Amino acid sequence: SVIDTSCIVIFGASGDLTQRMLIPALYHLYVDQKLPKSFAILGVSRSIYSDQAFRSKLIKNIKSDKKINEELLNKFCEHLFYQAINTSDVNDYTLLKKRISRINADRELKNNTLFYLATPPSLYSVIPEHLAAVGLNEETDGWKRLVVEKPFGSDLKSAVSLDESLYRHFQEQQIYRIDHYLGKETVQNMLVLRFANSIFEPLWNGRYIDYVEVTGAEALGVEQRGGYYDGSGAMRDMLQNHLLQVIAMVAMEPPAVINAKSMRDEVVKVLQCLKPLSQDDLENNLVLGQYIQSQVRGKCLPAYREEEGVPNNSRTETYVGLKLFINNWRWDGVPFYLRTGKRLPTRVTEVVIHFKKTPHPVFSADAPENKLIIRIQPDEGIMLGFGLKEPGAGFDAKEVAMDFHYSDLKETELLTAYERLLLDLLKGDATLFARSDAVRACWDFVQPILDYQKKSFPLHGYASGTWGPIEAEKLLNRDNHEWRFPC
Ligand code: BG6
Repeated sequence: SVIDTSCIVIFGASGDLTQRMLIPALYHLYVDQKLPKSFAILGVSRSIYSDQAFRSKLIKNIKSDKKINEELLNKFCEHLFYQAINTSDVNDYTLLKKRISRINADRELKNNTLFYLATPPSLYSVIPEHLAAVGLNEETDGWKRLVVEKPFGSDLKSAVSLDESLYRHFQEQQIYRIDHYLGKETVQNMLVLRFANSIFEPLWNGRYIDYVEVTGAEALGVEQRGGYYDGSGAMRDMLQNHLLQVIAMVAMEPPAVINAKSMRDEVVKVLQCLKPLSQDDLENNLVLGQYIQSQVRGKCLPAYREEEGVPNNSRTETYVGLKLFINNWRWDGVPFYLRTGKRLPTRVTEVVIHFKKTPHPVFSADAPENKLIIRIQPDEGIMLGFGLKEPGAGFDAKEVAMDFHYSDLKETELLTAYERLLLDLLKGDATLFARSDAVRACWDFVQPILDYQKKSFPLHGYASGTWGPIEAEKLLNRDNHEWRFPC
């Protein structure tokens, strides 16, 4: 579909997300000529800047990003504007409305407006209400879309009440809940791998698959975000949204067609099949950890509790390991093991599908079972491990691999997740955005964990640069399974 001319209004314009992600993504789309000829970006926040000062502030970030074309950058900046308002004060929205109208008229835009909430979550219900107070939610003269960043609520109850407050002023089809993992090329490719290749799909079930691993590892600690992170933890920051969305891509049924409704219907169906966690699961299939002070390559890294903004008695988890099941025909009895954490040995996100052993061992030394490794990032690619006869006498088998790297597609450059999602927002394509029922299904699943964490629970320390608490290894070893330890 075509991209309409539009005004992109970013609330939280002086914040980190706008500067590090949104503006650079919009700039790259502009350079690649993917944006319409006329468009405007209006930054909104409380701080006072002139348009010029706002542009200079943003340019600094883009410049540090990549080799840039000065001339194009200057032209891009002509599309950037700034408006200071107190976002919590409804009276300031008249000013905002006037500014948007003026930009629309000057730039000959068609009153299509994208409101992007890149603000702290406490403003997610306030801003839409105030926009509605001045009629900026009405689609009489052009579309009005509302983009909500994660976290969408902090538990099931708050997610439901956030929905209710948004629905007072916007309709579901105007609301786009971002989960940037769905914007990753490699996450989307899981659908093509599964549904456009007849060799995988017949094996993609509990008859042939032994277990599935999903890893979202990060080498960094919480950096400057201790204040936010401590109220969130790995469970809300990564597992409830990103990892469960990845699980949905691995486990969903084929949609009849790829469009927003069909895709999101299948996503929600599989998320609603996540087997509810029992008390026994919480005690035995869940591992929570927190990084402790440690020496890594001769450098002393602080404990999580010593990070800026983190209380020194914090019980927030920086690591989660979890074994879950999906209660449906395809996945009955197949364990899915998830892990995510900060300060692990490396940054890697991957899915590993472990196939079952052959039914009868014919050779004295068999190769390990087949596995399919879907590398989401970095070094995006897919690897299939299979057995080959060890050359020479006898019939021993050893593991070798067929390996595909996206970097081999020389002529193709991958869009970043935000580039892809911003384009879809401007097109009005909601396929890669989380629908309300899917978000609720995810909260529904993790809610027992959040409740469990309100009481006393074991929190295991782990040294930075390791793969998390030893209990996470035991979780798999108990079932005769093993994590892959990618380097
Ligand atoms: C964000 C989390 O949503 O995802 C961060 O808040 C995390 O804590 C980040 O680092 C990971 O995203 P990516 O794309 O780098 O894997």
